[in-house]
Amino acid sequence: MSRRMIIAGNWKMNKPPSQAAEFIRQLVPLVADAEAEVVCCVPAIDIVPAVEAAKGSNIRIGAENMYFEEKGAYTGEIAPDMLVDAGVSHVILGHSERREYFAETDEMVNRKVKAAFAHGLIPIICCGETLKQREQGITIDWIRQQIKIAFQDITPEQAAAAVIAYEPIWAIGTGKVATSGQAQEVCHAIRQLMGELYGPEVAEQVRIQYGGSVAPANAAELFSQPDIDGGLVGGASLKPDFGQIVHWK
Ligand code: PGA
Repeated sequence: MSRRMIIAGNWKMNKPPSQAAEFIRQLVPLVADAEAEVVCCVPAIDIVPAVEAAKGSNIRIGAENMYFEEKGAYTGEIAPDMLVDAGVSHVILGHSERREYFAETDEMVNRKVKAAFAHGLIPIICCGETLKQREQGITIDWIRQQIKIAFQDITPEQAAAAVIAYEPIWAIGTGKVATSGQAQEVCHAIRQLMGELYGPEVAEQVRIQYGGSVAPANAAELFSQPDIDGGLVGGASLKPDFGQIVHWK
């Protein structure tokens, strides 16, 4: 079985709604004939205009976060059903910035992963180590723990449909990209863990992205690694460069 590559943009807190629609329209012809699945994960307030602008194209719109509860008194939060209703297909969960600045724990990420699947959303589940953890030699142990907790009570069918994004924190927004060897080593370890948890078929199907300073100049080298099935792209997804990354080959 060969996995379909998935290239996802993570706009973070960039682009107001008016620019969101305009940029998606600009991107449509640039990615129209892509072999890879193309997703733009946008700020919540950009979702409606982005979905509208992407209509009829191969660009899917994702969210950057969501809450795990169905509805109710959670001021400022967005429920899974709201994303589905707005036309969202994917949702980034457990990004390191959410963990660091908004105190998201592995347990919260797990609740969000369960909620995403319960509503038919594909989660892009993020994991990654700090520079200190890498230097201490605990990268693989750390990532294994993040993934094990994120996938608690997730069925094999769901796990096979999940997307995991390995994003070393020291490589995010720093221009300091992991070497293809470093990225492959961790993505391979993640696939091995998925095999331990769910068996070889799920391990073969689950898609694992690399993220952290992905750019047109390094995408081909990273994405040609056997266990890397695409990328989660921050800074470079805000520019037409994203089209070049989507056509990485
Ligand atoms: P970057 O961000 O590509 O700007 O390093 C990646 C991410 O945080 O998803």
